[in-house]
Amino acid sequence: MSSSQPSSSSPPPTSDDSPPPNLPLKKIPGNYGLPFLGALKDRYDYFYNQGRDEFFHSRIQKNNSTIFRTNMPPGPFISHDSKVIAVLDAVSFPVLFDMTKVEKKNVLDGTFFPSTAFTGGYRACAYLDPSEPNHTVFKRFFLSLLAARYHKFIPILQNSLANLFSTIEDEISTKEKADFNALSDDMSFSIVFDLFCDRDPSDTKIGSDGSKLVTTWLFFQLAPLFSLGLKFVPNFLEDFFLHTIPFPFFPVKSAYNKLYDGFYTSASKILDEAETLGIKRDEACHNLVFMAGFNAYGGMKVLFPTLIKWVASAGESLHRQLVNEIRTVVKSEGGITYPALEKMSLVKSVVYEALRIEPPVPFQYGKAKVDMVVHSHDAAFEIKKGEMIFGYQPLATKDGRVFERPEEFVGDRFVGEEGEKLLKYVYWSNGREIDDPTAENKQCAGKDLVVLMSRVMLVELFLRYDTLTVEVGKQVGAGTSLTIKSLTKA
Ligand code: HEM
Repeated sequence: MSSSQPSSSSPPPTSDDSPPPNLPLKKIPGNYGLPFLGALKDRYDYFYNQGRDEFFHSRIQKNNSTIFRTNMPPGPFISHDSKVIAVLDAVSFPVLFDMTKVEKKNVLDGTFFPSTAFTGGYRACAYLDPSEPNHTVFKRFFLSLLAARYHKFIPILQNSLANLFSTIEDEISTKEKADFNALSDDMSFSIVFDLFCDRDPSDTKIGSDGSKLVTTWLFFQLAPLFSLGLKFVPNFLEDFFLHTIPFPFFPVKSAYNKLYDGFYTSASKILDEAETLGIKRDEACHNLVFMAGFNAYGGMKVLFPTLIKWVASAGESLHRQLVNEIRTVVKSEGGITYPALEKMSLVKSVVYEALRIEPPVPFQYGKAKVDMVVHSHDAAFEIKKGEMIFGYQPLATKDGRVFERPEEFVGDRFVGEEGEKLLKYVYWSNGREIDDPTAENKQCAGKDLVVLMSRVMLVELFLRYDTLTVEVGKQVGAGTSLTIKSLTKA
């Protein structure tokens, strides 16, 4: 059967619950080029000739479609198969959240899967499809751990942010600037460690190196997905070293072991609990390190600089409105509490807007479990079982057919009834913002905590300061390099 024809018997399911729109069924445009060379060309376009956004924009134009075929890096020899079907609009993207239609086994990093040596020989929860029994066991366990620590969130955040801002102030007074990334990374690691281990990492074997240990371990797993953009290294050389063969585990073995030991000795309560659920102690600990280091710290490493970049760059008028809302509510509610945060509609909207305009984890993959029809705004396309579906999220969450002025940071975009209706198109958590993570889906287990951390960060910032200025550097790996230039005290 030709891929432009619907399947013969019953029609395949569509990509969401809405009634199938009356759209023409088309053949998916685009091609993969010659074997090996096509994947190599796409890799060079993506990293060097065009860059990430232009890579996708130019193919949307060429194919006159937001759904098309392309290769995704890294390709040879790291990916066994780099062919994907890209879904780049707000309507088709959510097919990736539908566990009846896509398989999420080993697709966390895309078309390649780093060695399990990085995770103690186990496949961590984030690499498991919900149909695998271990996914249910671990996802439930993580959700229950987080729920049990609900009362700790705000005090830990307040304490950590007080330290962060005081260090930033010190650095500004001595060096006239503060490197936000390094300070935020240290804070992020301490928050996560404290949350699960009830102590400061510097009181353990990990010492003050926690964030560096995790970053090195992350880099060795994720290097094939990034360009370092180093001025004096020719592209072909970087490409050869980063994107051709996977990095081995042994250079980061001692860093990982240090982290593992730190968690193993400090999280004994959690590990005891895991054993009562029938989970092996070492498997529980490797999973805990992965959740804390990869999922949580990895996410925070990108999220916090991005959030501060957009908020700072939005300018003094937004800062004044935030100051006003935050100080009024904190005063009337008597502090930073859950009900107080819930009342801050502008703060909430600003956080969602940052997550919309620059989602910290921009790629999602899923392998078609069944033949299906997926539609964009303009056409329907048949995807066959076994094909890899790929979403580049920043294009879906900046879809101009859903969001007005999609490329602009509009702080109050999600305020009010009409604004809140748009939350179903905010996808940062690997799910819609109006949905919740469960053992049956692949939505971020830390979704509510992430939103909370971002809100508290803004509240603590604008309780202390009236405004701030920053210098935005180049994209580093998955995030932005950010320097704080000034903080104006309240
Ligand atoms: C701070 C920013 C964070 C971002 C941007 C983020 C984003 C994400 C995304 C996009 C996924 C889905 C990955 C995929 O399958 O494609 C995910 C999964 C996950 N996240 Fe987060 N996350 C963050 C923080 C956290 C935190 C704080 C925790 C827990 C403390 C957490 C725990 C998890 C877990 C356990 C999964 C795997 C879920 C599953 O396998 O079903 N994340 N996260």
